[in-house]
Amino acid sequence: MLLLGIETSCDETAASVVKDGREVLSNVLYSQEPVHQKYGGVVPELACRQHTAVISDVVCAALDKARVELRDLSGIAVTQGPGLMGALLVGVSFGKAMAYRHKLRLIGVNHLEGHIAAVHLENRTVELPAVALVVSGGHTNIYFVPAHGPLELVGQTIDDAAGEAFDKGAKMLGLPYPGGPSIDRVSKTGDPNRIRFPRPFLKNDSLDMSFSGLKTSLRYYLERSGFPHASDLRIPDVAAAFQQAIVDVLVEKTVSAANRYGVRSICVTGGVAANTLLRRRLAEVCRERGRSLYIPTPGYCTDNGAMIAAAGYFHFHRERESPFLTLSPHTAPPMGGAWFTGI
Ligand code: KG4
Ligand code: ZN
Repeated sequence: MLLLGIETSCDETAASVVKDGREVLSNVLYSQEPVHQKYGGVVPELACRQHTAVISDVVCAALDKARVELRDLSGIAVTQGPGLMGALLVGVSFGKAMAYRHKLRLIGVNHLEGHIAAVHLENRTVELPAVALVVSGGHTNIYFVPAHGPLELVGQTIDDAAGEAFDKGAKMLGLPYPGGPSIDRVSKTGDPNRIRFPRPFLKNDSLDMSFSGLKTSLRYYLERSGFPHASDLRIPDVAAAFQQAIVDVLVEKTVSAANRYGVRSICVTGGVAANTLLRRRLAEVCRERGRSLYIPTPGYCTDNGAMIAAAGYFHFHRERESPFLTLSPHTAPPMGGAWFTGI
């Protein structure tokens, strides 16, 4: 089954052709980073305009690179939400028009389900049940993934997403947008133990998380230090300590979820799953405790079209399609559920 995946939920215009839910024939991405960089964050109206300007070229490039004609496709999977409404509208409208014109099946995919489906691009089998952490700029959710039945949300941030904390923290430190990769990079030369930022909720029983207090602590710390004028402040040390606090919370809560649900497998996806320290720490704890860890390579952790095609595959495989006329962007489209099994 050859599927075209289209992703336009935020600031990446992405399209990919994937065979049988796994084999990536092309993965084209147009990043809007330079457009949003000077504002220190994504400007929704600019994001929509950029998507509109490049979507056609990105989709054509994905088909060309895969050496696939439109008539070879079995269907189109497009991100339906959550995301920026106007940005989603560009991808959904484009996907609908293509599907209508070329009589192709169409499915609207939940972006978070897409992130989890990215695990399948590089792993033929995922041992179930599992716990999945989806950690991005907009979400920090922990799911229980049963062998049969729908995904269950068992923990989430009660305020900022971890990616948002990275982005806002980087902005306070004067590091370039997007903040996560900047903090990741700068932290490599820093000492994470010279400053200690709080780890909210770490000691309580809940699988929920909170990151807004951490951001406030960073602001107070910088104010107390007289930043940006203080001469003795080492940005790499502050960044490393800040990153360490976020990673500690994510690792601890994910491992607690795995313990609570008695699972051996842990999946971690979403933009923040590209973080070097998070990947290293998870690999360590999973090795120590005999757990299987599934994290996509960094390019499949951040937004991409292949993950949307991978999720679409599970829907089409189960004969699910979106009603053509009424498909529209949605803040919380349904998750497919049980798509790990029986394929
Ligand atoms: O999944 P994604 O590409 O888009 C959303 O669905 O939000 O995630 C983007 C988020 C941003 O907050 C970005 O700063 C963060 O992922 N991110 C990282 C890294 N790469 C991307 N955070 C920490 N370390 C990274 N290496
Ligand atoms: Zn995402």
